[in-house]
Amino acid sequence: MLELTDKTAALTPQTAQMGEGKSYYLYTFGCQMNEHDSEVIAGILESTGFTAAAGPEEADLIVINTCAVRRKPEEKVGALLGMLQPLKEKKEDLFIAVGGCMTQQEEIAAYIKKRFRHVNLVFGTHSLPRFPQLLEKAMSSRKTVVDIEEYTDSRGNLPISRQDRFKAWLPVIYGCNNFCSYCIVPYVRGRERSRPMEEILTEARSLARAGYLELTLLGQNVNSYGQDLPERCDFADLLWELNRVDGLRRIRFMTSHPKDLSPRLIEVMARGEKICEHLHLPVQSGSNRILKLMNRRYTRERYLELVRSLKENIPGVAITSDIIVGFPGETEEDFQDTLDLVKEVRFDNAFTFIYSPRSGTKAAQMEDVVPRAQKEERLQRLAEIQQEISKEINAELLGKVVEVLVEGRSKNNPEMLTGRTRANKLVHFASTEDLTGRLLPVKISEARAFNLIGEAVSGEEPVNFSG
Ligand code: SAH
Ligand code: SF4
Ligand code: F3S
Repeated sequence: MLELTDKTAALTPQTAQMGEGKSYYLYTFGCQMNEHDSEVIAGILESTGFTAAAGPEEADLIVINTCAVRRKPEEKVGALLGMLQPLKEKKEDLFIAVGGCMTQQEEIAAYIKKRFRHVNLVFGTHSLPRFPQLLEKAMSSRKTVVDIEEYTDSRGNLPISRQDRFKAWLPVIYGCNNFCSYCIVPYVRGRERSRPMEEILTEARSLARAGYLELTLLGQNVNSYGQDLPERCDFADLLWELNRVDGLRRIRFMTSHPKDLSPRLIEVMARGEKICEHLHLPVQSGSNRILKLMNRRYTRERYLELVRSLKENIPGVAITSDIIVGFPGETEEDFQDTLDLVKEVRFDNAFTFIYSPRSGTKAAQMEDVVPRAQKEERLQRLAEIQQEISKEINAELLGKVVEVLVEGRSKNNPEMLTGRTRANKLVHFASTEDLTGRLLPVKISEARAFNLIGEAVSGEEPVNFSG
């Protein structure tokens, strides 16, 4: 569904109809913020007349929205660009644009321009408000256009073509000031820019009016929301206001940095009936020595204290995390500290990564002595322990009725519907009806590490909202 706003990306007479009769295909890598950026790119394209193509072969324009957080997503983009070359040879007027976090880095933008001559436009994370003009310029030029300048113009009112009709991403803060030593994000997304509270509330109200039930507030660190705004407000204030928006049923947010998680935020989570009982709180490591080298600015003791407070104040809260293994110089003892923390916290789920050096970051200059095989072995050990814990936690839901927001048919089994609980757990259940976008009570009959199986129950209200 395309949402147009009155201050839509400044469309000039040249750009207003440049997509008429043409179609686009969009590839997206990376996090939820990038997924949402792709909804904005799609919105801009559709506002100029482009329509979505069924696949890359049918498209007149292919846009690749990239991620730079680890080496793997970067390699995937390289492989994809190589794969598109024959397509471009077959179809000379095919137009290819590459943008996002990877191309925001100067050396990479220059490399893509030189190495992949079939690319017409290279743009960065700051380019979206000027995207129509850039596209127009590139379309009328025979040379590759590159735009990776850092602008700070507002992104508030760009058109959005949303993927779903019942749940929506809602960015609240762009950029990051934290400079964790391993992380490329502050370099490619710029400094923190909070959206004014009124702008966010207006968007939330209009989504609720359009029938959206669930909002996920996005930011690299939502907990620093408001610090750069002239008005005095913080993330807890924003959540509290959003909790009052009529029509919404669920509010989620990510990501929270442990160093900024305030007691007031925990209180608002506990009191706001729409705010889901789930917190993604990346710990990264359980070793104080490594946390210091990572520049995370909290200790394992502080993190454990936060977890205690969350569990005490929010009954049934689900806590998930991100963990990096094999950070430069990580010893077996450091890694044991991480395993001990994982066993003590008992995360509902954790995303685990092998450290990937990112050029330009502090950690990339640290001596990395841990052999690859050892990093892989650590990842394996960590993942096994976490899976066991996830399974045990999920087993506690057996026989209980939970509230599921149905997302659609299961990808692996068309007879099943898939949805999420308030705690963000994936539930599959059999149904012949299309119940997409409905909130339903489902009784859990089977628990696995990564998902739950259940049966839709009628007439029974969910007894465990936090499930
Ligand atoms: N802003 C979020 C996370 C952004 S990146 C936060 O602060 O939590 C998502 C996750 O990728 C991070 O939490 C971290 O675990 C992982 N990550 C980031 N840089 C990485 C790197 N260089 N190597 C491996 N994993 C990394
Ligand atoms: Fe990266 Fe740290 Fe910022 Fe998250 S808080 S985006 S891990 S620098
Ligand atoms: Fe990747 Fe950029 Fe997100 S680096 S994780 S797409 S902010």
